[in-house]
Amino acid sequence: MKLNWAERWVVNNPLRVMEQEIEIRWMRSKMPLRPGGTILEIGSGRGAGAGLILREFHPATLHASDLDFDMIRRAKSYLSADARNRISLLTADATHLPYRDESLDAVFGFGFLHHVLDWRAAVAEIARVLKAGGTYYMEEIYPVLYQNFITRHLLLHPTKDRFESKELRAVLIKEGFSFLDALDLKFAGILAVLKRK
Ligand SMILES: C[S@@+](CC[C@H](N)C(=O)[O-])C[C@H]1O[C@@H](n2cnc3c(N)ncnc32)[C@H](O)[C@@H]1O
Repeated sequence: MKLNWAERWVVNNPLRVMEQEIEIRWMRSKMPLRPGGTILEIGSGRGAGAGLILREFHPATLHASDLDFDMIRRAKSYLSADARNRISLLTADATHLPYRDESLDAVFGFGFLHHVLDWRAAVAEIARVLKAGGTYYMEEIYPVLYQNFITRHLLLHPTKDRFESKELRAVLIKEGFSFLDALDLKFAGILAVLKRK
C-alpha cells in the first residue's frame, strides 16, 4: 500500500535518515557482508537507505525497489549522481520480486513490510530470492505505533491480518530464517538481522 501525505512527510525527513544511519551501523556490526555481493532493498522510498547501504556494505550490485513509481522518481533526484549510477532503481511489488531463486546475497527492508497486504507472501519472496546463508536485514514497526488512536487517523495502512512480534517471528521461522540478533520492542517494533538456511 502506498504512503499518504502524512507518512511521506515522516519518511522524507532528515531525522529519518539519521535513524536509518544508526540502524544500518547496528546491522553491519551484527553481520558485515563481504564486499562485492548483490543486495536488494525492498520498499526503498526516496533512496536514503540505499545510499547508506552502498556506503556501509560496498556491494558490487545494489537494487532498490518500491511499489510506488513516485518514490522511485524521488530517489532519482535525492541520490547523488555517483550513487544513482551505482544503484539500479526499479518499481516492484514485494510479493512478486523480479529475481531468480537464490540469486541475492542480502535483502534490506526498512519499514515496508507492515504496508504490504499479504506480508506473509512478501516474507516468502524474500526467502525465495536469497541464497542459502544469505542475510535479511529488517526494520519493522508494530500496530501499536501505526494503528493507535492518533496514527490510525493520520496514516494509511492495511488493517487486516497485521503482525506483532509473535506472528512475524513465526512466519520468518516457517520460511527458514534464523535470528542472528534482534532488538524487539513490543511497544514499537523490531530491528533484526536474520540468516536464511
Ligand atoms: C514507510 S515507507 C519506508 C520508506 C523507506 N524504506 C524508509 O525507511 O524511509 C514504506 C515504503 O514501502 C513501499 N511499499 C508499500 N507496499 C509495498 C509493496 N507491496 N512492495 C514494495 N514496496 C512497497 C511504499 O511505497 C513506501 O515507499
